[in-house]
Amino acid sequence: GRRVTVRDVSAAKVRGEKWPMVTAYDAMTARVFDEAGIPVMLVGDSAAMVVYGYDSTLPVSVDDLIPLSAAVVRGSRRAMVVADLPFGSYQSSAEQALTSATRFMKEAGVHAVKLEGGHRVLRQVEALVSAGIPVMAHLGLTPQSVNAFGGYRVQGRGQAGDELMADAKALEHAGAFAVVLECVPADLAERITTSLTIPTIGIGAGPSCDAQVLVWQDLMGLTPRPAKFVKQYSNLASQMTDAVQNFAAEVASGAFPAPEHVYQ
Ligand code: KIV
Ligand code: NA
Repeated sequence: GRRVTVRDVSAAKVRGEKWPMVTAYDAMTARVFDEAGIPVMLVGDSAAMVVYGYDSTLPVSVDDLIPLSAAVVRGSRRAMVVADLPFGSYQSSAEQALTSATRFMKEAGVHAVKLEGGHRVLRQVEALVSAGIPVMAHLGLTPQSVNAFGGYRVQGRGQAGDELMADAKALEHAGAFAVVLECVPADLAERITTSLTIPTIGIGAGPSCDAQVLVWQDLMGLTPRPAKFVKQYSNLASQMTDAVQNFAAEVASGAFPAPEHVYQ
């Protein structure tokens, strides 16, 4: 079996087929999601929070994300793997973006990269696309700009919606193959989705987007206080608590290890 490609993603929009994207940061979860049929996996800079324990996405570097991206590629067989370009690795110039993206392609073997922003990153998008690197764009609540936004809040309300629409069209024109829309009003996301030929991938952007993405720890119920847009499809935090407490109790009581776990 071959990997999912940008052509598959674009064909899905033509057919009106919606698809799921999830984040992944290691080989074992990547394998589970790949075998479950998830077509696109994102090694998000959300790793800053869910893997590295920071309270924003800003501190992680290319060096932090490349080993995680390589693990996700090794753990999967069919999914397209997209890596986030972290804060500070692409903003200064097209050359800097190309240097960073090239490292992800060569050292981790990812199939595409994602970066945040609209008109401010068009030169970067064009340079990557010219070099043969598929680019996923990201608009709306772009967490690398949390300090400029003054917090994690809905973007694109009122007048700002027109700018967001213009950014989305400019990114499509610059050659992006898809665009993530994060925390924007559902009616704006719907208008952008119908105005673009490339797919929109929503997170807190309503039901009209061509695809939906969630951070896997959010959808599995590991995150203590998930955002409004998260649906928890499992309750892993309580299942893991039960399991590790059972282990602790059986170690204390001597019930584990039992004879079947012992080499005679
Ligand atoms: O870093 C991330 O996980 C993301 C997705 C939520 C889109 O950018
Ligand atoms: Na991200």
